Amino acid sequence: MLSISTILTYLQLLLLLTTTCAALPPIGPRRAPADDLPPNPRDRVFRPDEALSGRAEAARRPGYVRMPVSRHLFNGTGKWSWGWHWGGGPGPGGPKGSSGGRPGGSSSSAGAAPTVPAVGIREAVPGTEVGKGMELSAEDRRWGWSYLTDIGGIAYIIELEIGTPPQLIKVFIDTGSYELWVNPRCNTSASLEICKNHGNYYPNRSNSSMYVGGDFAVTYGTGAVKGSYWSDVMSVSMFRIPSVQFAVANDSNYTFSGILGLGYAYPYSINYPSILNLMVSQNMISAPIFSVGLGGDGDNFSEIIFGGVNRWKFAGYLEPIPIWPPISQQDPAWIQYWINVTSVGVTKPYASNGEVYTSETFTMPCLIDTGSTLSYIRPDLVAVIGEKFNATVDNAGNYIVDCSWRDKPGTVDFGFNRGRMLINVRYKDFIFQQYPGHCMLGVQPADAGSTNYVLGDTFIRGAYLVFDQQSDVIWMNQYYNCGDQVVSVGQTARDTQYIKGAC
Ligand SMILES: *[C@@H]1O[C@H](CO)[C@@H](O)[C@H](O)[C@H]1NC(C)=O
Ligand SMILES: *[C@@H]1O[C@H](CO)[C@@H](O)[C@H](O)[C@H]1NC(C)=O
Ligand SMILES: *[C@@H]1O[C@H](CO)[C@@H](O)[C@H](O)[C@H]1NC(C)=O
Ligand SMILES: *[C@@H]1O[C@H](CO)[C@@H](O)[C@H](O)[C@H]1NC(C)=O
Ligand SMILES: *[C@@H]1O[C@H](CO)[C@@H](O)[C@H](O)[C@H]1NC(C)=O
Ligand SMILES: *[C@@H]1O[C@H](CO)[C@@H](O)[C@H](O)[C@H]1NC(C)=O
Ligand SMILES: *[C@@H]1O[C@H](CO)[C@@H](O)[C@H](O)[C@H]1NC(C)=O
Ligand SMILES: *[C@@H]1O[C@H](CO)[C@@H](O)[C@H](O)[C@H]1NC(C)=O
Ligand SMILES: *[C@@H]1O[C@H](CO)[C@@H](O)[C@H](O)[C@H]1NC(C)=O
Repeated sequence: MLSISTILTYLQLLLLLTTTCAALPPIGPRRAPADDLPPNPRDRVFRPDEALSGRAEAARRPGYVRMPVSRHLFNGTGKWSWGWHWGGGPGPGGPKGSSGGRPGGSSSSAGAAPTVPAVGIREAVPGTEVGKGMELSAEDRRWGWSYLTDIGGIAYIIELEIGTPPQLIKVFIDTGSYELWVNPRCNTSASLEICKNHGNYYPNRSNSSMYVGGDFAVTYGTGAVKGSYWSDVMSVSMFRIPSVQFAVANDSNYTFSGILGLGYAYPYSINYPSILNLMVSQNMISAPIFSVGLGGDGDNFSEIIFGGVNRWKFAGYLEPIPIWPPISQQDPAWIQYWINVTSVGVTKPYASNGEVYTSETFTMPCLIDTGSTLSYIRPDLVAVIGEKFNATVDNAGNYIVDCSWRDKPGTVDFGFNRGRMLINVRYKDFIFQQYPGHCMLGVQPADAGSTNYVLGDTFIRGAYLVFDQQSDVIWMNQYYNCGDQVVSVGQTARDTQYIKGAC
């Protein structure tokens, strides 16, 4: 039996995470203006079947662990939405963390959003629809039940093998939370079919499972989970991690697969090592760093690389965007990937220059969250963007747009580090098609008065992102897909800056 004290010996093996923070990073190379970029190489889109011979490749090249990510579109069920991730304020906010895992006993961790001065939208919008839908109670809006009727969403999922013999489990990758849990209760999930396909883990069918105990409880914006902790062997890609602690749920609502939280974990929010921590302590990777390339909608290629960067998914160098507020100033029980957005705009089809809707001094701290189908930003800014797409606001306050926009060659543009990095998200990647003929703007208004802004998948599809818990930055550049070569990173702090994208 594995006891708590056995687990603690694993803690001692851990390399401690670097907590030095983040003065503004050295200035990275300036990104070329949009029209100097190499053309988005649609004609040389890298084919997935060429790609993930990755298992064999990872074996030859230690230092990173690479995993394919699959994309699942699911329909709304009338009373549920994964996409409405979380709202602000007290009450059911984002993942509240587990009571069992946290050091220091910090019990209330609503994961407070940074406060932002209200500055800088350039254009006032006549006849703006902001506020429509606001007649709903705050609680309903936060939970998104009556608010985002029938939205459905897109889930990005990886496969893990747990136990001896291995049991195949599929889990969401979620940079907005920090623990791994498995076994959603399917008959109260959003989708019985999807849930049943995602595998269940039975501790009693594994020779290596060990009961750890403790109470696990998380409240997400769109669901809740309870359970207790177990530990078992886990395989990620072809690597084997001997003793991974995770939660096995015995009750959950509105979730249809387990979730792999990839936020800051040990020693902040939990007192046991996360998978990322264990990969470091087992010398599978050099530092707690992982890259996410969700890729364009319809490209059929998404991947996550622990400890490595795929050079053939961007051009030029990656820009370091500091996590802000610095992690030393965030609630230690729930440190999150907040970064400042410094401009927002739209490049219309065939236009040579993008329009920018924000002022020179604009900042908007946003959580980068792979677990959120849509993005949630300032309502006034959503209204400005909505007008460009001739959006209509439905009774629930959603910005609905014509699906034909997805086929037009424009982009929605998010700037970072004051002009040093601009991510141009193609309309096709930005506009979420729930089902044929029903499309929504990729940004929706955050709760009135809330500063819990989120950049979800409708932003992330346009970017190549490297989440770096060693240096507390998110490295970023425009996503391209022009080939395939992974290099490991994290041997020295900030060595990601030297990796030149090959596209
Ligand atoms: C998704 O839901 C909408 C509205 O309820 C329905 O019209 C559509 O047929 C559904 N699509 C699928 C693929 O189930
Ligand atoms: C982020 O924006 C805030 C203002 O909202 C500013 O005080 C802070 O310095 C910015 N952080 C970085 C790293 O740019
Ligand atoms: C697991 O244990 C059972 C019963 O002890 C044994 O029959 C089986 O071979 C073991 N399986 C593995 C993969 O070790
Ligand atoms: C769901 O299944 C559990 C056991 O698997 C059962 O206890 C519960 O009553 C079921 N709930 C519904 C709503 O069917
Ligand atoms: C294993 O556990 C599951 C669920 O807890 C139970 O339904 C099943 O009967 C158990 N199997 C064995 C062999 O004990
Ligand atoms: C799920 O919903 C049921 C019914 O509302 C509730 O009794 C149960 O506590 C909920 N489960 C969780 C994990 O919140
Ligand atoms: C889940 O397990 C806990 C103990 O770990 C127990 O108190 C609770 O009743 C269980 N809930 C369900 C729905 O089985
Ligand atoms: C992606 O897959 C879909 C359906 O399987 C297919 O229609 C489409 O052509 C694929 N796209 C690419 C770029 O391979
Ligand atoms: C905008 O929408 C209105 C009403 O839906 C429609 O009459 C108008 O033609 C649309 N304009 C454009 C440019 O698509």
